[in-house]
Amino acid sequence: MARPTGYTRTQIVLHWAVVGLIALQYLLHEPIAEAWDAWRGGAEIAFDPLVAQHVVGGLLVAALAAWRLVLRFRHGAPPPPEAEHAALRAASHAAHWSFYAFMLLMPLSGAVAWFAGAQEAAEAHNVMKIALLALTGLHVAAVIFHQVVLKSGVLSRMRRPA
Ligand code: HEM
Ligand code: HEM
Repeated sequence: MARPTGYTRTQIVLHWAVVGLIALQYLLHEPIAEAWDAWRGGAEIAFDPLVAQHVVGGLLVAALAAWRLVLRFRHGAPPPPEAEHAALRAASHAAHWSFYAFMLLMPLSGAVAWFAGAQEAAEAHNVMKIALLALTGLHVAAVIFHQVVLKSGVLSRMRRPA
């Protein structure tokens, strides 16, 4: 399949929508962590809109990631910028596919913890929350490196459709 010259409008909207949803998962993390601890301590769990937000927002991330994967396989992604060194190219390829794995495994582990009461799944969720944060830091650093050092205009690929 020939590679497209850029991302489609839908791919771009989905990228930024998922960034916003994931940011909310981190910013509003306390209520679900407290509810989880309370439930494990034997307390009754009352309805809390912020806990519901974590569950629904997280499941939405999985649904949108599945949609993104379909688009990724159907439409593809633009080739890496020419200035990019082979090692950086391989790293960004690995990072992008790792993101897809996290966007599915975070909600899955959270759901297994929350709906099946599995402590192991909550532990996996907690390990992955740190890994996803670290990967996002690297991703943003790579975008800044592209903008400032390589001047490959990679950010505009995620702002304007081809
Ligand atoms: C991409 C999606 C998700 C992200 C980025 C995410 C992120 C987080 C974060 C940052 C915490 C930390 C709480 C803390 O240590 O203070 C957390 C806890 C938790 N999340 Fe998620 N979450 C996601 C999806 C979900 C979903 C869909 C569910 C349930 C259906 C869920 C259930 C839980 C539970 C039960 C905890 C408490 C675990 C514990 O404290 O040991 N998460 N999540
Ligand atoms: C948790 C948050 C994030 C996730 C999960 C994520 C995920 C991804 C993924 C999977 C791709 C590959 C394109 C695709 O297949 O759809 C991508 C590309 C991209 N992301 Fe993110 N991203 C996040 C945050 C950010 C942030 C904060 C920025 C801004 C600095 C950013 C800028 C970009 C750019 C410019 C590209 C295009 C790279 C290229 O064309 O090679 N991302 N992102």
